[in-house]
Amino acid sequence: MSYPTIIEDVKARCVLDSRGDESIEVDVYTVGGMGRAAAPMGASRGEAEARPYPEGGVAAALEEVEKVVAPELLGMDAADQKAIDELLHELDDTPNFERLGGNTAYAISLAVADAAANSLGIPLYQHLAGILARELPYPLGNVVGGGRHIHGMGPDLQEFLVLPVGASTFLEAVRVNVQVHRRVCQLLKEVDPHFAGGTGDENAWATRLPCEDVLNILFKACQDVSDTTGVECRIGVDVAASTLWNPSEGVYHYKRSGVKRTREEQIQYILDLIDRYNLYYVEDPFMDEDYESFAELTRKAKNCLICGDDLFVTNRRRLEQGIRVGAANAIIIKPNQIGTLTDAWETSKLALSNGYVPVVSHRSGESVDTHIAHLAVAFHAPIIKTGVIGGERVAKLNELIRIEEMIGSEARMARLRL
Ligand code: PGA
Ligand code: ZN
Repeated sequence: MSYPTIIEDVKARCVLDSRGDESIEVDVYTVGGMGRAAAPMGASRGEAEARPYPEGGVAAALEEVEKVVAPELLGMDAADQKAIDELLHELDDTPNFERLGGNTAYAISLAVADAAANSLGIPLYQHLAGILARELPYPLGNVVGGGRHIHGMGPDLQEFLVLPVGASTFLEAVRVNVQVHRRVCQLLKEVDPHFAGGTGDENAWATRLPCEDVLNILFKACQDVSDTTGVECRIGVDVAASTLWNPSEGVYHYKRSGVKRTREEQIQYILDLIDRYNLYYVEDPFMDEDYESFAELTRKAKNCLICGDDLFVTNRRRLEQGIRVGAANAIIIKPNQIGTLTDAWETSKLALSNGYVPVVSHRSGESVDTHIAHLAVAFHAPIIKTGVIGGERVAKLNELIRIEEMIGSEARMARLRL
């Protein structure tokens, strides 16, 4: 007897990501169908995350898939995700996917899950989580870009984000985010004489204005849109502080505004921003080994999500360390930081059971894959971070609109913790 989810063939190829960089895409063929996944790529990657590709880049990764992984996968059951992901670890045999690359492992792990879902004729979120997964995440959208995402030529903070906390459906939430994105464009045109409507890596507006000006504009845009739609929206930022950290001087260097901040000054600066702009969400406010400052800020900041991205790199052991000292109350889940779906799920589960909010996230270099939309629903993540516009960002949002429709009258927005 031959099951529809038994793997018959595996193919990997080199494709381009949204920045035009080379990426890996994997096809998995089963008796009853096929699955496909491409890996995303970060520009501000965490020091501790899985190495994306082996020495030799995508070409070397393709050779590993063909010679080492594919022969082992043939005959395995694509529905047994745990066995597949364990095999990837066995074949790699390094702590951080140095042999295969985290991106290679991710594309295989996800293509297998996609193949299983397609062979069974059910959506991916349902294959992973069953029919009781009914909650839609709130979309956290990148509205203005800075830091490395616009090559260090604009505001020092990497991302200025919007979260439509008052939306009652996913469709309403994305509509509100688009309105904020458009309103910010109008306001930038009024304030920034150099603004020509350009965008950065995640289709967030690119401006050379300093952080406070951007925050004032975003704050006003959120108020305007909240007033016209009746939907409350709040602001978030991704500081990506490891990119500001100067280890020899022991300070955060804000080059655009010409300011250097010590650890204590950084804590105070972030607390002031939370207070002044009623921030709902702050990601990576400190460099990625400073658990103590994360813990201090988490204790002091009331009613704000303090999220670790480069801090945790979707790694269960790093999250355990954070839980021990009370560092952060939210965690970015980027499965390619850790390599496999099972690892990403284990980390999300640990977060949920300790009161941390998992935020499933895109990367700055993306494909038009929609899988992370399914992962957000399957992982019970109250928030998904995907950008607001641009084909590769909207692909995820549109998939969530479809998932909302598939779930039907049982669909509801996730419960936000604050
Ligand atoms: P990335 O980072 O450029 O590594 O994808 C985005 C982020 O810091 O959230
Ligand atoms: Zn980040």
